[in-house]
Amino acid sequence: MTEPLYFDFAATTPLCSAARDAMINALDHDYANYNSINHALGRDVHLHIEDARNHILESLRLAHSHYLVFTSGATESINLANQGGFRAYQRSLKGIAALATDHKVSLEVLNALSSSIATTLLPVDSGGLIDDTYFKNFLKGGPSLVNICAVNNETGVIQPIHELTQLVHQSGGIVHLDASQMIGKMPLIDLSEIDFMSISAHKFYGPKGIGALLIKKNRRIEPIFYGSRQEYGIRPGTPANHQILGMQAALSDTLKTYMAQKDQLELEYHVIKNYFESKGAVINGKNTCHLTINIKLPHRFSRKLIEEGFASYVAFSFGSACQTTNLAPSHVLSAMGLGPDEISRSIRISLGLNMPKDSVASLLSCFESIS
Ligand SMILES: Cc1ncc(COP(=O)(O)O)c(C=O)c1O
Repeated sequence: MTEPLYFDFAATTPLCSAARDAMINALDHDYANYNSINHALGRDVHLHIEDARNHILESLRLAHSHYLVFTSGATESINLANQGGFRAYQRSLKGIAALATDHKVSLEVLNALSSSIATTLLPVDSGGLIDDTYFKNFLKGGPSLVNICAVNNETGVIQPIHELTQLVHQSGGIVHLDASQMIGKMPLIDLSEIDFMSISAHKFYGPKGIGALLIKKNRRIEPIFYGSRQEYGIRPGTPANHQILGMQAALSDTLKTYMAQKDQLELEYHVIKNYFESKGAVINGKNTCHLTINIKLPHRFSRKLIEEGFASYVAFSFGSACQTTNLAPSHVLSAMGLGPDEISRSIRISLGLNMPKDSVASLLSCFESIS
């Protein structure tokens, strides 16, 4: 086997051809500066980027409710939402919170802000869903900026976004949704009530190094970088034309392709789930999207056995991509109550669009060879 089998779509996705074409076209033709509107080339770029901004908002059905700031990816967007949101609303905020299972970015931002404002990690239950009772009690303490990872990157657990947003708003608080793992992994939902939302193009078949922060029209963000007045004065710097146009093309393409392949992907999810359950494995997480599957293997499948057996030609992960090089056990699975031994036997298989035919059968035969 020469080409590895790719089952690591939650870590990143390959560039789709629509995005590659848009990027090459932009590199060749749309090279002028977005702000150089005194000449025709600059005006064209300006127009194309504003079109892309509007298309992205429309594709996410947020054109009436939100404005969009391009960033370098979800890490920057999450920093901007929390640090910039804190700067804008610090007088009215009691604290900043995130789910204990949220991405490391949110947890590290909270850590950095903890010397300026109270920060809270919200516990989850054994299925990875927010602990409802704790959350309702927490909100009684006053308005907070609450981070919610819509679809968890390690387990695929989908939080009850609408219900949580309503509760936060009733308490006078603000919601930041990390939607990095949502697009192309589940059908679009109504997100028009969300205050701040982070997305990242490389998670939906677009280029790496580009993302966006979507901000509800009645909300503000103070900049955390200073420079010229690009991106509503919130995110200075010359916009990356080819990245932005690649991201827009990827988003349109992915939303359509996902809906066309959704049923097939669900079938494949059930084939994988049934296979592993028949071997005595347990799926970590409740209410999961069907593309990210976290599996606690029985004792006989040690990490060593998997690594020696086939890890070099099957691309999957132990925890998230960021966790693979980190020897500390996954904070996500720990927060769900798994012990170090169970975590070391847990793997993440993430499915994606346009997988070669028979990929799942080949994956399962790899496992069969060591079981
Ligand atoms: C849920 C989640 N949030 C944030 C990030 C960070 O995204 P980016 O790579 O665009 O900075 C990732 C990527 O690993 C993610 O999965």
